[in-house]
Amino acid sequence: MAFASASAPVVPARQAGHVAIIMDGNGRWAQMRGWPRLVGHRKGAERVKEIVRAAPDLGISWLTLYAFSTENWKRSTEEVLGLMAIFARYIQREAEGMAREGVRMRFIGDRSRLDPKLQRLMAGIEAKTAHLTRLNLTVAINYGGRDEILRAVRAIACEAADGRLDPADVTDAAFSARLDTAQLPDPDLVIRTSGETRTSNFLPWQAAYAEYEFTETLWPDFSPAELGAILARFGNRERRFGGVLK
Ligand code: IPE
Ligand code: IPE
Ligand code: MG
Repeated sequence: MAFASASAPVVPARQAGHVAIIMDGNGRWAQMRGWPRLVGHRKGAERVKEIVRAAPDLGISWLTLYAFSTENWKRSTEEVLGLMAIFARYIQREAEGMAREGVRMRFIGDRSRLDPKLQRLMAGIEAKTAHLTRLNLTVAINYGGRDEILRAVRAIACEAADGRLDPADVTDAAFSARLDTAQLPDPDLVIRTSGETRTSNFLPWQAAYAEYEFTETLWPDFSPAELGAILARFGNRERRFGGVLK
């Protein structure tokens, strides 16, 4: 029996076209210095700017960043409001620069719980950058993989109950099309900073066959040079997708 047929989806990894990052460790970075956690988040936002700028030259065309999870509401009101202010400021301050550099910005996550003013800023920059193609930047705000899957399941259940969708047509592609990430390819590589080796509800469906890299570096210390080194390692990995290498 020939398991490795010519059509088997076995490809050696080359470039990570879609990199997703769990940006973790801002709080510890600040606390280690005796500073408030929000100082770490502000430093983290500076790192985002730098990584976004470096990504296209590293061969990345899709970059997805985990900024706020559905579980992060458990934090103090001061930290949550501080983070929301950082997101709003980032969008306002970076809009021009991103447009100049060809960055298309999208958001995933449940927006309905966010401040309407922030929601407007998000929709505004999505519209303003919709024609750009150099880098597809997606920021996950109030994102949780289980929440995203449940919202898709509810949508599918409603369509089926109304007779608009035949249950037999609920395929992999049909399900993916109802996720927040409908317009995104699956991530090739997921990176988590700060030494934690868990996924914390980030892209559970989409990252089923992603490669993972965990680094001890805290997000405010993460650099384009370290990203480059991680990408070089990725290039040497064998991705089998359940097949066998020829
Ligand atoms: C990541 O840094 C940013 C968010 C989750 C919003 P943390 O704030 O989780 O930093 P640590 O993990 O407490 O150091
Ligand atoms: C994951 O980090 C979420 C983001 C980076 C936005 P957390 O710090 O919230 O995750 P846990 O609590 O350590 O799992
Ligand atoms: Mg954390």
